[in-house]
Amino acid sequence: MQPIGTRILEHAIVDSTNAVAAQGLEDGSLAHGDVVWALEQVAGRGRRGTAWHTEPGLDLACSVILKPENLQAADQFLLAKAVALAVHDVVARYLTAAGKAPERVRIKWPNDILVDRAKIAGMLVENELRGAVVATSIVGIGLNVNSAVFADALQATSLRNETGTRHGLPEVLQRVCAAMETEWQRMLHDPAALASAYSAQLWAKGRFTEFIRDGEPWQARALDVDAHGRLVVEGREGEVEALGMERLRFGVRH
Ligand code: BTN
Repeated sequence: MQPIGTRILEHAIVDSTNAVAAQGLEDGSLAHGDVVWALEQVAGRGRRGTAWHTEPGLDLACSVILKPENLQAADQFLLAKAVALAVHDVVARYLTAAGKAPERVRIKWPNDILVDRAKIAGMLVENELRGAVVATSIVGIGLNVNSAVFADALQATSLRNETGTRHGLPEVLQRVCAAMETEWQRMLHDPAALASAYSAQLWAKGRFTEFIRDGEPWQARALDVDAHGRLVVEGREGEVEALGMERLRFGVRH
């Protein structure tokens, strides 16, 4: 298996890099570790059917092809953990190099990357199952790199805003690929270590915060994420539940 990022397919403009990656898997032109990178996306997709906007030429929009050889469908959230940790690590290193505290970077379940309370990166992981195993995964990553202005409602930030300087997209992409290869190897050889590293970086862990559970506001605190990717949360009465993304999301006020 070639290391992630050995082959980077650069596009000036696409609808969505995840869509281009899906096409490449379909026609057999893309292999494990290949990366589709676009300077501009006109129909970038986010989780839960939302749109994802990246400023042309300023921010990173890419999709990585992964072909796990024996990953059980029940364990597929490990992929989300690996990619979240990889992007977390890249952002934390940029902050460290700029003399800023890397502890400000956290993973907001399931796999947003925040600096303090502002989102700097999001991921869209699209897995294709074959029976009980994951056959292919398209890992779409949107990382705000050089955008400087965000609508207040977005609660977003960028590497430029956090470090005070602009960063070259090819270098950021190389770092993302290298970090993803590291986490991919950890997932294959030591998934328990991957899970505990992810857990250690969870945003708002142990702090009571607003959630929406089954459509209703609910105060609880996150304790961990289980093997199925469900957030393990404890309510004010001490009741502990593991809830998936179909039942639980963070509320607007944290
Ligand atoms: C989210 O936070 O909602 C996920 C955002 C994922 C955006 C990336 S940008 C590259 C790739 N192509 C897409 O269309 N989406 C992902």
